[in-house]
Amino acid sequence: MTVEKPWTGRFNAPTDAFVEAFTASVEFDQRLYHHDITGSIAHAKMLAKTKVLTATEAETIIAGLQRIEQKINRGEFVWSIALEDVHMNIEAALTADIGAVGKKLHTGRSRNDQVATDVRLYLRAEIIEIQQSLMCLMHTLLQVAEREYDSILPGFTHLQSAQPITFGHHLLAWFEMLQRDWQRLNDAQKRVNVLPLGAAALAGTSYPLDRHYTAELLGFAAVAENSLDAVSDRDFIIEFASAAALIMMHLSRFSEELILWSAAQFDFIDLGDAFCTGSSIMPQKKNPDVPELVRGKTGRVYGHLFALLTLMKAQPLAYNKDNQEDKEPLFDTVDTLKGALKVYADMLAAMTVKRDNMRNAARQGFTTATDLADYLVRKGVAFRDAHEVVGKAVRHCIAQPCALDALALTVLRQFSPLIDEDVYQVLSLEGSVAARNHFGGTAPVQVKAAIARAKTRLSAMKLK
Ligand code: ARG
Repeated sequence: MTVEKPWTGRFNAPTDAFVEAFTASVEFDQRLYHHDITGSIAHAKMLAKTKVLTATEAETIIAGLQRIEQKINRGEFVWSIALEDVHMNIEAALTADIGAVGKKLHTGRSRNDQVATDVRLYLRAEIIEIQQSLMCLMHTLLQVAEREYDSILPGFTHLQSAQPITFGHHLLAWFEMLQRDWQRLNDAQKRVNVLPLGAAALAGTSYPLDRHYTAELLGFAAVAENSLDAVSDRDFIIEFASAAALIMMHLSRFSEELILWSAAQFDFIDLGDAFCTGSSIMPQKKNPDVPELVRGKTGRVYGHLFALLTLMKAQPLAYNKDNQEDKEPLFDTVDTLKGALKVYADMLAAMTVKRDNMRNAARQGFTTATDLADYLVRKGVAFRDAHEVVGKAVRHCIAQPCALDALALTVLRQFSPLIDEDVYQVLSLEGSVAARNHFGGTAPVQVKAAIARAKTRLSAMKLK
């Protein structure tokens, strides 16, 4: 079947076959069909309201569009590359179905404002789904934090044992990052949820459109102020892609920890067989593929952000075909992000925490040395002098080797006569975490309070 392109009027020769395939986007933008049809139905209703179309014409068009959507849903729609993109495929099918009146749908509209509208409708819905996935992951984090609020592990700086912390506190750090990520999406959504339709090709249209009515029908919070801007800029996609890159950056850092903690040298957690894979050669292996893949996929999301920024940077006003290249990076960003968030929530819920191993690791590396220095400060020693005294005690222990709290009181007193029996509580892991008893600190009582606040914040989070 030869299909008639809607724009062949001024052409003498047919499109080169390769150029046809090269310029077509239907293979990937057919994914927008639901939003394309939703936008077209609103446009037709608006055209009837402003009497550009008769009520009967609009009704015929709308019924035809609904039939097409059902046909696509059933997988029976045949997409044609000759018809370039999702928009012309649907419009051609409409005219084939309802006859000449189908040709009136495109009155007062261009594919330029049409595609900008479709992408905004698509992204608006996806942002909501992504935010819901983020909330689900945050909820899981709080559940694990609640269970592990007083489990002790070594906290690291420079990946060297630094000070003991509670695992609940560690998990709440991830909660904070994810909440900021969620807020960034809410903020981006405000700039996504603006209607371009009515901008037509670039200059607006000579028909008496009611753009505010179309916006109302489609649930847009605002109408784009400037027709040139409305059809050309894709900053709202770039903004989303940068929020997505930040989420992936956070998940990638988190992945790095899960991978380290799964290694025999740490052995803090077990990710569960359902979330790991084996090796084809080494029978003993159980690999943390899921966090590794999330870490790896972070690269492609960063890549999409850069592709989009580069796509936009040299475009003069207004629409340029370059913008057709916004879709694949956007779609892949959405898919990658949704996949990563889903697998993360499931994986964390299934994770086993090896508390004894964490606790034993926290006992290595003199993690309560700072507590001993603070103890001496409370007895009147200047912090720098206390630091020096404890440094010497640590050096002595390294030579033994033994832990600080394994030294007898008489030995400890050789470093400072101010040390008393109560030092052993100070040197203990529980004593150390309990001492950090202030807002934002790692003490178990503080973690409990922080979890309660986080729950309240999570339930107050309102989608834009
Ligand atoms: N497929 C095009 C895109 O994704 C739709 C708009 C095309 N407009 C045009 N005048 N060629 O951007």
